[in-house]
Amino acid sequence: MEAAGSPYTIDAVTKIEEKPATRPVARQRRPMQRFLWWLLTVSALGITAYFVPPYLVGGTTVPGLDRSIPGYYTSLVIHALPAGIALAIGPFQFVTRLRQRFPRGHRIAGRVYLIAVVVAALAATYSSVVTKSGFALQVAFFALILAWLFTAAQAYRTIRRGDVKAHRIWMIRNYTLTFAAVTLRVYQLILLQVWPLMPDLEYSEIYTSSAWLSLVGNIAVAEYFIVHRILAPRPRRTAA
Ligand code: HEM
Repeated sequence: MEAAGSPYTIDAVTKIEEKPATRPVARQRRPMQRFLWWLLTVSALGITAYFVPPYLVGGTTVPGLDRSIPGYYTSLVIHALPAGIALAIGPFQFVTRLRQRFPRGHRIAGRVYLIAVVVAALAATYSSVVTKSGFALQVAFFALILAWLFTAAQAYRTIRRGDVKAHRIWMIRNYTLTFAAVTLRVYQLILLQVWPLMPDLEYSEIYTSSAWLSLVGNIAVAEYFIVHRILAPRPRRTAA
């Protein structure tokens, strides 16, 4: 998703090239990379703006919210607010130009992001324990929570010891998990279209499948990106 010289890049990739006389082919991909960054950002902001506010105003407009479970609604509020903040901050942390111009801003936003992830993950642990959405979904959420906390800890640990490249890689992994909030809802939308064709299917099965798909799918995309664009980038072809 990144290209040298683009304001939408991760610097690890920008280090690969600094070829003045020739025009890197990567530059031709800039519109696509910009498009992907905008898509990521708009969908992250959109999901935050649509799903989080109803929980902050009493949750009365949330369909099917189970208020009979003690502390469940409160845990969703404590989870959704910081999770939404993390989802919204994330895309801007990957913009090279912003990082270079406002390094202090990047550090502050990074701390806010990591604290938000930890608070959201701890609250989600309670929601996952008490939710009545089924065991398979609980397992998916626990896996997501553990991976979320582990990658956040690695991102923090690596930047504290000054390993910028490893920090970027762990942040990509971590944000990919945060982004599961978006992909989960996209998969839900897609699978809902299948529902009329399979009348025996229950809604909880659609929800659970979407959670697993987002977990596995997002990790696969992140690892592909990390390997092909950061760890072992293809040698760049150049155009005259
Ligand atoms: C990636 C790590 C995340 C985990 C492990 C996680 C976990 C959970 C859990 C366990 C629930 C309760 C589900 C239930 O009872 O059926 C939940 C609900 C919710 N989460 Fe997350 N979540 C994550 C990320 C996010 C993010 C980034 C957002 C930002 C928008 C978010 C927003 C919400 C909202 C709004 C709900 C309430 C249910 C709904 O309206 O869909 N979550 N989450």
